[in-house]
Amino acid sequence: MVWSQAHTNIALIKYWGKALSKQNIPATDSISLTLDSFWTRARAEASTGIDKVVVHGEELNPVEEKRVLDWLQAARSVLTLPNAIVLETWNNVPKAAGLASSASAFAAMATALARVSLGYDPRFNSKEDAIKEIARLGSGSALRSLQASFVRLRRHGSENVAIEKIDTPLEDEIRVIALLLDTKAKKIGSREGMKRVAESSAFYEAWLSEHPTDVENCQEALEKGDWHRVGALMESSTLKMHATCMAATPPFWYFQPDSIKIMNWVTEARLKQKGLSTYFTMDAGANVKIFCLARDLKETGDALQEIVPNAKIQIASKGPKPHEEKG
Ligand code: PMV
Repeated sequence: MVWSQAHTNIALIKYWGKALSKQNIPATDSISLTLDSFWTRARAEASTGIDKVVVHGEELNPVEEKRVLDWLQAARSVLTLPNAIVLETWNNVPKAAGLASSASAFAAMATALARVSLGYDPRFNSKEDAIKEIARLGSGSALRSLQASFVRLRRHGSENVAIEKIDTPLEDEIRVIALLLDTKAKKIGSREGMKRVAESSAFYEAWLSEHPTDVENCQEALEKGDWHRVGALMESSTLKMHATCMAATPPFWYFQPDSIKIMNWVTEARLKQKGLSTYFTMDAGANVKIFCLARDLKETGDALQEIVPNAKIQIASKGPKPHEEKG
């Protein structure tokens, strides 16, 4: 059996907010790292019945099933697809826990659909462009999982986005420690969170106005191999994103006591140990992701395991773009 495998990505400079002109176009650029350890495999097959989604490992509740079936229907305006499809997925990413499971899922499903399609709509220049469109319709961050390693999602006006690989001398040196604190589904998904922030947060305008400088600075620092500058920008983008949530009506936050404990430790450890390359980030869930250079991985991992003994720790490095896997 051939599967399309796509890997999750974690944003260093976050995507948080949508452009209003077109559904699911991010309001800003973003920068991410695609990871090797977390992925989704997807397979599509023509069937004689009705569209069906089968998720190994985790049950789809009716709300989730509807989201995927609606998306599959939308994909039909992009690709020429069989009348009925069985879409099967398997993923090793804890669902809805701020580990970007929807990014790898929609990137893998879009790639799998393209394998069974008979063509694509002429408004797209290539099959790759059609896959990009479908992935984006599912999840804004899924676009970044179509590219390997460090990626910039670049907006072109309010209608189009491009994904570009960022070349950096840091590529082989970066390690990510994912600390799985709370793998239960989050209460406020990214879609709902972004909407509430755009509609009501006192800080949303400030977020949008500072974002372009953060993106440019981060890309420049990556290209120059200035990891400490990249790390500082990543923490700053994280905290600004979470500040928009706390200033929304009604307010919300993703931090749990252990998330704060870890961020405190990272900040203090850098003060104590000059040159320590350890920085944190958090997305729309309680889990914290730590980025560091390979030289500090062991020390950082050991310390974190002591601070949050119940957390499950997983290590990742740069990951590939979608590819085929047999299984
Ligand atoms: O693509 P979505 O709808 O899962 O949104 C992703 C939002 C964040 O993970 C919080 C930030 C990001 O850029 O990945």
